[in-house]
Amino acid sequence: MRKTVLAVSLSLLACSYPALAGDTKKGKQVFTEEAQPSCTVCHTLSDAGSSGTIGPDLDEMKPSREQVINAVTGGVGIMPAFNESLSSEQIEALADYIVEVAGATR
Ligand code: HEC
Repeated sequence: MRKTVLAVSLSLLACSYPALAGDTKKGKQVFTEEAQPSCTVCHTLSDAGSSGTIGPDLDEMKPSREQVINAVTGGVGIMPAFNESLSSEQIEALADYIVEVAGATR
């Protein structure tokens, strides 16, 4: 519990512009630019103009918010984990964005 509070305050400090839930503009920026390597290299997502084919096509897959958060936080298969390079706000904005544009039900 204490650890969670600490982690949250640290990530708020580290991030000069905290994302609001459902901030899809911010999520798109994380998808296309802030994540390194960029999600676009490996995934197709038409709203982001990406056509990567190494990972699943996210338009077709329509992952849930949970699936995105788990995959990005911990990595899956050859997909790298981003928990050290992206803040939890960035990962949540990313999940909101993908769910919104790929049309999954939360
Ligand atoms: C180096 C290529 C690569 C990059 C970069 C990458 N992915 Fe992936 N991703 C994959 C591969 C490959 C899989 C399938 C893994 C498997 O099922 O073994 C995957 C799976 C996924 C899944 C499905 C997880 C599941 O539940 O099956 C989601 C959602 C996802 N990626 C989102 C993202 C997002 C968002 C980013 C950017 C932060 C990203 N990926 C960056 C290659 C990548």
